[in-house]
Amino acid sequence: MGFRKRNRSRARKPALGTYGLLTAAGGQDIAFGRSQAAVHVLCPSPVLRKDRQMDISSNVLRQLKNRRPGFSLEQPFYTDPDYFKLDMETIYYRDWLFIGHDCEVPRAGNYFTVQIGDYPVVIVRGRDQVIRAFHNSCRHRGSRVCSTERGSSAKLVCPYHQWTYELDGSLLFARQMAEDFDKSQFSLKPVHCESVGGYIFICLAKNAPDFASVRATIEPYMAPHRISEAKIAFQSTIIEKGNWKLVWENNRECYHCAGNHPELCRTFPEAPTVTGVQGAMNDPVIAEHWKRCEAAGLPSEFKISPDGQFRAARMPLIEGAESYTMSGQNAVRRPLSPDVTINGIGTMLLFHYPTTWNHMLGDHAISFRVLPISAEETAVTTKWIVHKDAVEGVDYNLEELTHVWTETNDQDRRIVEENAFGIRSPAYEPGPYSEIHEGGVMQFVEWYTTFMINRLQGDQAKLSAVA
Ligand code: FES
Ligand SMILES: [Fe+2]
Repeated sequence: MGFRKRNRSRARKPALGTYGLLTAAGGQDIAFGRSQAAVHVLCPSPVLRKDRQMDISSNVLRQLKNRRPGFSLEQPFYTDPDYFKLDMETIYYRDWLFIGHDCEVPRAGNYFTVQIGDYPVVIVRGRDQVIRAFHNSCRHRGSRVCSTERGSSAKLVCPYHQWTYELDGSLLFARQMAEDFDKSQFSLKPVHCESVGGYIFICLAKNAPDFASVRATIEPYMAPHRISEAKIAFQSTIIEKGNWKLVWENNRECYHCAGNHPELCRTFPEAPTVTGVQGAMNDPVIAEHWKRCEAAGLPSEFKISPDGQFRAARMPLIEGAESYTMSGQNAVRRPLSPDVTINGIGTMLLFHYPTTWNHMLGDHAISFRVLPISAEETAVTTKWIVHKDAVEGVDYNLEELTHVWTETNDQDRRIVEENAFGIRSPAYEPGPYSEIHEGGVMQFVEWYTTFMINRLQGDQAKLSAVA
């Protein structure tokens, strides 16, 4: 039996220049057609878009330049969807982002996916063992190629029409395309990808900022912990109903710890010299800690990048504590790394704006990833990392390993959400930070302000040049 001839007479195209209506499954009407009016209603012209973009970035620039130093930001920086979009376009779509760990893709074909604002991305280990990142959007008609959070596959096969990509992104197979179809022109689009100390960073920009200086600074601090060879014992993602900057502001101080974190305060000192960015070198307890750790081959002294975007420092815990447990003793019997040969190393604190802060201890490490969802929602993913051969129930008890930070994360979520609630009030106005306890917050806000001003001024110069 042959194919049935299609009856074309019923499906009539609308005439050019008309404006028609189709009824969708849900009953609402959808406009179609090609009149000028319709085109303007459905999609603002590039000139209007550019004007609007310039208006918002001008407002943001003006407010940042006139900001009262030492005070929190104006309300729209924490609530306004247009300000949020500008944050995404200026920071998250253009800078290096920590996204996951090498040990999450230990074998060729292992992959995981992530959503950064509008961009779905897939990270995959190739047959050559190189970890690469790609835009997770098929070069045929744009379907997501990998739709699960993680998986393993010999090839990346788009579920829509089965275009098949090699693990290096090249298009291997596209069924029944025209004879002159050139596969080499339709590889998955690459995303910049670097791996350092077991941490994978990606950058969505066409031209990525320099990564060599990040690597040179942080790699020596991370290397002894051997996180690239470890495993994730547990991970959690919580959604905090607050702007991503509130999540960071809360993280960058321990002014709130005594009143909110009974579990964490058993082992983590609330001293501003530990949590902040000033005074560590003048604190005799910290100086002694650095001396002892450095003598054991563990880089420890406080180091911050000239622009303040990333910092590493090894800090002591409360005397006698080894790890973040209720008892203060190790949660994991098997040490994280054989290269760490002494006890009492405290925690190696590492942050890199805008996506990650970390704790590396003797028995385990904890990484945190901050990904904004909207102006008032942020996903925080926490991963507990242990030696690859550590066995749950034998070397560690999962509840004991995760208890302190699960509680702490939930307490921080509540704090951020209450903060966001109050900021939504028309009565909110920026308030003063404590110089003693909130030096870290002031540093974060300074970094954000300077970073935004520098980039927006560069963008405005470019936009007016082409206007
Ligand atoms: S959209 Fe991927 S194969 Fe068609
Ligand atoms: Fe906290």
